[in-house]
Amino acid sequence: MLSSYFKPSVLKNIAAKTGTPVYVYSKALFLKQISSYKKAFRALDPLFCYAMKANSSGALCALAAAEGFGADVVSGGELYRALKAGFEPGKIIFSGVGKTPAELAYALESGVLFVNAESFEEVLALEREAVRLKVRAPLSLRINPDVDPHTHKFITTGKLGSKFGVSFEEAQKIYMYAAESEHLEPVGAHFHIGSQVHSAAPYALAAGRLAAFILKLASRGVNLKYADVGGGWGVKEGGEMLSLAPLAKAVADVFQGTGLRLILEPGRSIAAPSGLLLTKVLYRKRGGHKNFIVVDAAMNDLVRPALYGAKHPVAMVAPGRGARKVYDVVGPVCESGDFLAQEVTLPEPAIGDLLVIYSAGAYGFSMSSQYNSRPRAAEALITGPNSWRLIRRRETYQDLIAPEL
Ligand code: LLP
Repeated sequence: MLSSYFKPSVLKNIAAKTGTPVYVYSKALFLKQISSYKKAFRALDPLFCYAMKANSSGALCALAAAEGFGADVVSGGELYRALKAGFEPGKIIFSGVGKTPAELAYALESGVLFVNAESFEEVLALEREAVRLKVRAPLSLRINPDVDPHTHKFITTGKLGSKFGVSFEEAQKIYMYAAESEHLEPVGAHFHIGSQVHSAAPYALAAGRLAAFILKLASRGVNLKYADVGGGWGVKEGGEMLSLAPLAKAVADVFQGTGLRLILEPGRSIAAPSGLLLTKVLYRKRGGHKNFIVVDAAMNDLVRPALYGAKHPVAMVAPGRGARKVYDVVGPVCESGDFLAQEVTLPEPAIGDLLVIYSAGAYGFSMSSQYNSRPRAAEALITGPNSWRLIRRRETYQDLIAPEL
């Protein structure tokens, strides 16, 4: 069954006009996720900083910015995109484990809300840039709260021993240093425990530790304004967002009434359900005991199944008439890891039939590459019941070699 946000007639029209593979997003769904966040957290009035790494398309970011969202960026490139998409600089936070001096300077010149630093040496680099630019750098530290979010090991970030953040002890030393510096202004504290998290319990634990730490800092004369609890809230396997109520309760229990401004950095939960990857059946074949559907999208377009064993639901755009069989849906890339779905039951498709891979709006296009010299896919946005527009053209063969000298 296709979601009512992605009508078969519209998908067919998009495929006919732009070809496949193409990422298709629903404006209505994207805005629905945003409004779910606003509703669930109304009592706390947080600043939402959309994690652009999930999907940094200018068209989608502009929608988030128009809704009053800020942005969480993790590179100079994302900061550039954020400013172009219309996010207010004062609502942008700059995170990431290894920001270069040039990126730190760019952040300061742009007037971001604060920089989430992840080591003492990075704080010293930030201070040097602030001295050079004759400004005071608004500083927050990413603290590793040592909690287990129970998710895939590649996207677990808040346990000690991961490369992210600093310990509470280290953070205290850094804040005391920053408080003495003329060019650093400690304003916030941050954690991000991981991604595709399904339970509010690790947030409650981490938030409690962060709040206690912020209080302790205040007793030593360092008063922070912002508590940034990161992103990471998951989506269900079918692609819908998990209810936000448990997350909202967990952070409200800790932060309501503290006077701290809460910040959240949601990415996947907003973008994933809003988009799908539309692809076309090239061939059917049997290999040993397996049935394969070879499609024109591949791991370079959507790497999540290969990289994390992620399961994205697959559906046919037109209801198939053939017998139902168990298939692996694979792409043309020369790697056995190039599959989009494994062991899914579908009616036998015909050559040229369209398939959709759901829940691909986050970490789909943004993690795509030109591997095997495949031009990146196009992106389209459904804007009304029967209307859509192209928001990024398909790359061409010329695009593949354009930067080469
Ligand atoms: N804030 C920080 C500091 C982060 O590192 C991330 C994600 C987020 C916010 C947003 O998390 P979200 O709400 O999207 O879960 N490529 C992986 C996900 C990597 C997430 C990295 N950090 C995937 O496809 O599952």
